[in-house]
Amino acid sequence: MTEQFSFRLLAKDGAARRGLVSTPRGDIRTPAFMPVGTAATVKAMFPQDVRATGADIVLGNVYHLMLRPGAERIAALGGLHKFMNWPHPILTDSGGFQVMSLSKLRKLNEEGVAFQSHIDGSRHMLTPERSMEIQRLLDSDIHMQFDECVRLPCTDAEAERAMRLSLRWAERSRKAFGDARGKALFGIVQGGASPPLRIESAKALAAMDFHGLAIGGLAVGEPQDVMLAMLDIVIPHLPEEKPRYLMGVGTPDDIVQSVLRGVDMFDCVMPTRAGRHGLAYTRFGRVNLRNARHADDAAPLDEGAACASARDYSRAYLHHLVKAQEILGMMLLTEINVAYYQELMAGLREAIEQGRLADFIVQTKEGWARGEA
Ligand code: GUN
Repeated sequence: MTEQFSFRLLAKDGAARRGLVSTPRGDIRTPAFMPVGTAATVKAMFPQDVRATGADIVLGNVYHLMLRPGAERIAALGGLHKFMNWPHPILTDSGGFQVMSLSKLRKLNEEGVAFQSHIDGSRHMLTPERSMEIQRLLDSDIHMQFDECVRLPCTDAEAERAMRLSLRWAERSRKAFGDARGKALFGIVQGGASPPLRIESAKALAAMDFHGLAIGGLAVGEPQDVMLAMLDIVIPHLPEEKPRYLMGVGTPDDIVQSVLRGVDMFDCVMPTRAGRHGLAYTRFGRVNLRNARHADDAAPLDEGAACASARDYSRAYLHHLVKAQEILGMMLLTEINVAYYQELMAGLREAIEQGRLADFIVQTKEGWARGEA
């Protein structure tokens, strides 16, 4: 534990990195997966159960929390950690991404984004300065710059406009963040699917005084090979000594491929959302519990899993809960999925330390291929 934010590289295997992010609220072992807790809850899980899966950090969202219950209210109640009973590190996304995908009637200009709430139609404004203020009110440990993310495919002109705006917002975010002791601010690389734009964005952000760098604007509709090609282009331009965070990614295979290329941190709604829709992620691939073939299956999802819920309940019971839309079905599958993601990250970390990442990936993929995936 430390008073300052820091990142230490502990081991490398090829381009893959094993590291440790330290914050006053605790350490984050990397490569790390951050479960998404958008509205001050990792949906369908108790915070202590999220912790028990091995999560060191969760993610919260400026966009959702400013609209409901309000950042000033959370600050008055002692901050986001206390509010949601999660005393460990929290990373908050800046709102730049969510305001473009969720809000109504948004108007973007140099200053920021004016928009109407998707909840009640009320009018709001997000700027780099207001996003930093909200993240400070939430008492987030890792703040994200305010940025604009465009969906793929898009024209290079559109990607360039958004990338340059995001660079100007990066400067304003950095200035507004100031010198918050023990806190971190990450810049976000944009540039669509254009190699020169991506390189320009990465170089400009690397030259600024950020604590870490994120790669944004990926997993927004493009095929996996496009995403991986962008990582191959961007990562050589990111500083070795700062953590690298790939935003909104991804499937277990996306994560494995990105770790192989030198990414340290991930977040995605996939394990939690899939769990609420009857899908399980296991060592044997993805299992659809809605399928009638599970109706009479007394076997658990994975009798060798680290997570008790994957061992103690039959596929038949999980199938029944999902079909009957019982809340417990969502709870069990969410926990099983978050635990599997954490088990995968622990395996990746250990393999990098031991210099046997390639073997670990071959074995992991063999496991996925054995299931129905
Ligand atoms: N989440 C997934 N992608 C992005 C992105 O490009 N920007 C931000 N702020 N959040 C994201």
